Amino acid sequence: MDQIMIRGGAPLHGEIPIAGAKNACLALMPATLLTDAPLTLTNAPRLSDIRTMTALLQSLGVEVSSLHRGKVLALSSHDLTGQRADYDIVRKMRASILVLGPLLARCGRAEVSLPGGCAIGARPVDLHLRALEAMGAELELRDGYVHARTPGGLKGAVVEFEKISVGATENALMAATLAKGTTVLKNAAREPEIVDLARCLRAMGAQIAGEGTGEIEVQGVERLGGATHQVVADRIELGTYMLAPAITGGDVTCLGGKLELVASFAEKLEEAGVSCEETAHGIRVTRRNGRVAGVDVATAPFPGFPTDLQAQIMALLCTAEGESRLEETIFENRFMHAPELMRMGARIDVQGGVATVTGVERLKGAPVMATDLRASVSLILAGLAAEGETMVSRVYHLDRGYEKVEQKLGACGAHIERVSGE
Ligand code: UD1
Repeated sequence: MDQIMIRGGAPLHGEIPIAGAKNACLALMPATLLTDAPLTLTNAPRLSDIRTMTALLQSLGVEVSSLHRGKVLALSSHDLTGQRADYDIVRKMRASILVLGPLLARCGRAEVSLPGGCAIGARPVDLHLRALEAMGAELELRDGYVHARTPGGLKGAVVEFEKISVGATENALMAATLAKGTTVLKNAAREPEIVDLARCLRAMGAQIAGEGTGEIEVQGVERLGGATHQVVADRIELGTYMLAPAITGGDVTCLGGKLELVASFAEKLEEAGVSCEETAHGIRVTRRNGRVAGVDVATAPFPGFPTDLQAQIMALLCTAEGESRLEETIFENRFMHAPELMRMGARIDVQGGVATVTGVERLKGAPVMATDLRASVSLILAGLAAEGETMVSRVYHLDRGYEKVEQKLGACGAHIERVSGE
């Protein structure tokens, strides 16, 4: 298994291009199932999660061509051959559940394996299922699979989500585009990935209003057509790389970044003493002077502070002057990076959903282990700032969500390399 070796201490200077959003692309790809016309996605990220979604769609009979070295995905579902998403693929990636809504809407039936447990908490799919049921789907849970049918076709409905869920909003939104009548999604997620999906569906002919607010209204249509859509920039990759000069010192511009994608995160960086300025090319980040100051962070659905940046900002706060309080409100058990950071000399006390971080002057390099996607990159950030060598193992987690990490950071002066294992 590959490892990543980092020699810390070098301030970073330069530019880092930000890729298309993994989480947007994982919702946009299943939208192909809604139409027999071609769907082309540009600015796709090149990641193992995207390859997993490709394999899942191919198993349903979708033609997927990867063009321009993977940056363009041409999808066609004119000839679907199956409606069953197998456990073997679904267990690798929870986002596989996103084929359920579109398959049901287009084919009237679907069988999707339940995703099962996940390292960052229980993560059920009840909200997805309840929304589809409200639209007339008949569901049965059997042998670890959701067996879904819509004898009379999906019908528009008022769906009020008990809790804000990105995935459930996406599944219901896609299903509603082909339902009979009007669907209103209340307490919907407002993440930029939802807005991006709604834009793509609208380009395919869907009638949608209110995306980006807590209430989305969808007028069902008979059929959807094809479209070409550019995937929105990855706000989590953006936030991650904004932290690189914040933790090492230096001056880095994240190309293609927009402050509106990371407003609550950038506010916290400013509060800590890091300047984030939007330029014509992206977001320029510089650490103002000396160590950053401790800040308090609580994760929340968009536009709140993203849970997917909690591990990374913790790495920064480990080196801050003073104490910081990090509260995780979205997922239980999402502090698995804390003990690894402590191996590097960080002082962190985790009590339930709250981590208290007391900053130290300098982290020390150590062998550490990635436990999930965002945890893995927080260890890389910590390694960039640490004295000596840090070896991060289990980097297959990293490859799910970050392309070319070594090249992107290396081009700004970081001493980082991938050590190939067998
Ligand atoms: C998406 C992102 C993930 C991010 C998360 C929260 C993708 C592919 N993944 O995940 O990176 O961390 O949003 O921003 O876009 N819940 C239920 N029942 C459900 C669904 C969710 O109780 O049916 C709970 C979850 O356990 C969690 C909360 O709702 O506590 C939010 O999860 P959700 O927004 O659904 O996350 P995902 O869409 O899985």
